[in-house]
Amino acid sequence: MRPLTTDQIRAAYLDFFHAKGHTIIDGASLVPENDPTVLFTTAGMHPLVPYLLGETHPGGRRLTDVQRCIRTQDIDEVGDASHLTFFEMLGNWSLGDYFKEGAIQMSFEFLTKVLEIPMEKLAVTCFAGDDDASKDEETAAVWRKLGIPAERIGFLPKKNNWWGPAGQTGPCGPDTEMFYWVWEGEPQGNPATHEAQWLEIWNDVFMQYNKNADGTYEPLKQKNVDTGMGLERTAAVLQSVKSAYETDCLKPVLAKVLSLSTVPDSPEKIRHARIITDHVRAATNIIADGVKPSNVDQGYVLRRLIRRAIRSSRFLGIEANGTFVSSIASEIITRYEKPYPQLKILEQDIREILSREEQQFSKTLQDGIKHFERALSGAKNSIDGTTAFHLYDTFGFPLELTKEMAKERGMNVDEEGFKKAFEEHQALSRAGAEKKFKGGLQDSSAETTKLHTATHLLNAALRRVLGDHVSQKGSNITSERLRFDFNHDQKMTESQIKEVEHLVNEAIEKDLPVRYHIVSVEDAKKEGAIGVFDAKYGSEVKVYVLGNDGDITSREICGGPHVARTSMLGHFTIQKEESSSAGVRRIKAVLSGGPKEILIAEQVS
Ligand code: ALA
Repeated sequence: MRPLTTDQIRAAYLDFFHAKGHTIIDGASLVPENDPTVLFTTAGMHPLVPYLLGETHPGGRRLTDVQRCIRTQDIDEVGDASHLTFFEMLGNWSLGDYFKEGAIQMSFEFLTKVLEIPMEKLAVTCFAGDDDASKDEETAAVWRKLGIPAERIGFLPKKNNWWGPAGQTGPCGPDTEMFYWVWEGEPQGNPATHEAQWLEIWNDVFMQYNKNADGTYEPLKQKNVDTGMGLERTAAVLQSVKSAYETDCLKPVLAKVLSLSTVPDSPEKIRHARIITDHVRAATNIIADGVKPSNVDQGYVLRRLIRRAIRSSRFLGIEANGTFVSSIASEIITRYEKPYPQLKILEQDIREILSREEQQFSKTLQDGIKHFERALSGAKNSIDGTTAFHLYDTFGFPLELTKEMAKERGMNVDEEGFKKAFEEHQALSRAGAEKKFKGGLQDSSAETTKLHTATHLLNAALRRVLGDHVSQKGSNITSERLRFDFNHDQKMTESQIKEVEHLVNEAIEKDLPVRYHIVSVEDAKKEGAIGVFDAKYGSEVKVYVLGNDGDITSREICGGPHVARTSMLGHFTIQKEESSSAGVRRIKAVLSGGPKEILIAEQVS
């Protein structure tokens, strides 16, 4: 086996798939743009859903990338050897190009020839079949042909060997997972017979079905491959260590946390040091993608991660009153600045946000703990909902923190009571955010598509009214409204707002055609398209053009989808113009009166 570093594994993966005809694309932000149904990017395929459903990708039919992901559903397990809230996923995709045989052959070649993992230590699983889809004999046959013996091939049901849809509906299919023998002694059986001894490192999903809202599965027009290899797990395997925290990236961070601890060694000490390492890595990356701690949505998850890390620091005897979390963030940035230079550029901002949150929390933590202790003395075996809400509302304790503290005393928290109290006090509740998080995948509904096109018109109108310095700083679309952040250092006047609104409605009334074409980044710049030019040199982008030749209203780099004609937008109204942060304004706007059914903008050459 090649004992590669994490940086070397990323490079080896991209090089390998590039040589196999894949375009290397940039990983997306952790915060999905224009996707109201998920809080964070949870897999490499998330930003690619429109393309898995048939949109043309400018990079072609074979793509590869490294995607930073956040998954918080197992946050309570973090602290053991394997669970992480932040991880990196190496992925390769076929958009209607190669299928099972091609994908498996490449996975096998990368594992055995590039990483030089001995074949004897590999096992795989395939889909066992059920009423919706048949047993995946085809996949098993490919593995056997490559030399994987039958006893290393397990068949498992949907729960294990089926991936997606990430939401209620969408692309999904059977998968085949690849495992490494992590136990002592000779490898035995396969994950279906010896689950604990085999560690999953890679998943090849064969997205050949679309799950409908009524629960039925219909074959997709385009058969896709979606793969995901866990970078941290693969690094642990290649570096012959038992945990992600022992790999070259995280070990120095963990060591730094432990070096600051003043308590004697114990398994609990390791657990809390891992929680801090994981949570601060996640928080650092989330802040780098533009999120600030708050009480809703992504900001709430961020706050929860920071506060949990601070709480764990107390178990280690570390005084966290302003500089602790940011010092760990700097240690993380040192390890990650090479693949992610943006982290270094943003280091000061990240440190300041973390320090402010830490100062604020350490003040209230003391008072909150006192309040909690008082509530405990009156309680039998459960903390009532009102107390839990009071801890949240007044002392900034996330419910999870209260639950954790209660659990340590063998108590429960009345969660229903907490929710009730919460909903009475706040419309934008965390309960809502969690539901949204579980809700699923990219919602390319008619409403969000319309709002997305309206965002382009808004961007163009703002540039006309306020000047060409205006550029997008953020965009967030729900099925009800659009939110658009842009740089401008003054409050907009009433008449400027009216003028922008008027320009957008004028463009809607003109019934402009919306079309896109695919060009190189250089050509997109030449034709004057606005947008984020962060694609790599030589790569291609989609440019959406609103208007007719000689009368172009907007020309913008964007992934789409958009409506085919602007008249489908109905009527545009700005509801709010406010400050978002220093030098950045935020507009919230809605559409009304448009048709329910829309047509999607198409490609022109
Ligand atoms: N989307 C697949 C996963 O997350 C590859 O495992």
